[in-house]
Amino acid sequence: KTPIAILISGRGSNMRALIEACERPDYPARIALVLSNRPDAAGLEIARAAGLQTIAIDHKLFGKDREAHEHKVDAAIRASGAKIVCLAGYMRVLTPFLVNMWEGRMLNIHPSLLPAFPGLHTHEAAIAAGVKEHGCTVHLVTPGVDEGPILGRAKITVQSDDTPDRLASRVLEQEHRLYPAVLANFINAQ
Ligand code: GAR
Repeated sequence: KTPIAILISGRGSNMRALIEACERPDYPARIALVLSNRPDAAGLEIARAAGLQTIAIDHKLFGKDREAHEHKVDAAIRASGAKIVCLAGYMRVLTPFLVNMWEGRMLNIHPSLLPAFPGLHTHEAAIAAGVKEHGCTVHLVTPGVDEGPILGRAKITVQSDDTPDRLASRVLEQEHRLYPAVLANFINAQ
């Protein structure tokens, strides 16, 4: 099994979906590390309860020096032996340092059908734009935010009475299916 690191900032539901996938004997990945930039991330508790190695590297301790924080993050990932990094609700914009270090080996999940609606507040943006289809995307991370090569997308249909919260919950269900599936394909294609 290929060792992976999962980077989170909060709830960790996508991480949980990856944990569950990795528990299957035939799944091609195992989790070497769960890392959070927020020591109070709820996802860290889930990971610990699953018996996984976790670490919190608080970005606030590094002030404005994003690269100094990322050097610590990179060192922790390397020390774990992980060969692939999965961003799962990791809410920090990365500097070119970490992106270049893991180029072609770092995946992200984003809650829209990229290239539509990069950035934050994607469900509000989808409703404001009046789109009929919405969803989520797993892509490789490159220096441009939410711009890397797309590895997979999952779609939902937007209903006329949808709210951002309702869209978020239907998209999240799709995220939980998409991420483990795309990661397995990605590893199997290496
Ligand atoms: C997910 O919807 C994920 O796609 C999104 O944050 C949420 C994290 O939820 N990621 C981004 O917006 C990245 N810019 P989770 O912590 O329950 O997985």
